[in-house]
Amino acid sequence: MPWVNPAEPTSPLCFQTAVAPQISRKTSTKKYRTTFLVSNRASLSFSWLLMMPHPVIAIDGTAASGKSTFSRKLAQRLGYVYVNTGAMYRGVTWYLQEKQTPLKDIDAVTREIANAGVESWLENGELAFRIAGLDPLPHVREARINEAVSLVAQVPAVRSVLVAEQQGLAAHAPLVMEGRDIGTAVFPQTPYKFYIDANAEVRAQRRQLQGETDVIQKRDVLDQQRAVSPLTCAADAFRLDSSYASVDELLVIALGHLRARGLTIPA
Ligand code: DC
Repeated sequence: MPWVNPAEPTSPLCFQTAVAPQISRKTSTKKYRTTFLVSNRASLSFSWLLMMPHPVIAIDGTAASGKSTFSRKLAQRLGYVYVNTGAMYRGVTWYLQEKQTPLKDIDAVTREIANAGVESWLENGELAFRIAGLDPLPHVREARINEAVSLVAQVPAVRSVLVAEQQGLAAHAPLVMEGRDIGTAVFPQTPYKFYIDANAEVRAQRRQLQGETDVIQKRDVLDQQRAVSPLTCAADAFRLDSSYASVDELLVIALGHLRARGLTIPA
């Protein structure tokens, strides 16, 4: 079976990004909403790392690797809430583009995100997301966002705000959360981690079939090489290769892995 490999040890760098302390809790207002500001030097406290009120299944991987389809289906099968964190980075990118913020200007992006007010919560079993009171999610699949999102995702202030939002969501429901740093930085303590990849041709074909113009290889390079929480396979993640496997085949493997790790799978 060429498409399933055991987790491979990876560079210890991914664990440096996972270690965390000193969150300063700035506001906590709405129901289902928690906002933290995390300093660039600091990260999560150990007490926070150990506190997981609900199980979280972390799914990371390359662009167009089939993460979303797999994650959505896994969430459905388990009765968990599916959270696509890429949509949050895309949402911030949309907002900055609307404001005509120069995306290469880290100070300008940092100022905008600090002033905008980001909110996320779970509503009807889905992620709801607002930036400056606006819902960006209907706009986030545009080609101009594919082109720019990895640039915005490099900015530490953007990551701090969104990671804190993502961590807050786990207080309210069991989650299947997909992204690039979920198993390494957002929920490094979860025992349930997958890393999904597929070969470059298959991924390009997928985007074409979806009718999207996407710069997937360029995004992968930026996502893998950024200084803060780069895309990498956590040492304890289970790797899945979706190049030639159907989502149902991957699901059977994943459920077997989760069961072996002690997760209760509903009948
Ligand atoms: O999953 P996606 O392709 O929609 O994500 C869009 C971009 O957002 C991706 O190229 C990098 C960024 N991203 C990130 O840096 N961290 C995440 N947890 C999710 C996405």
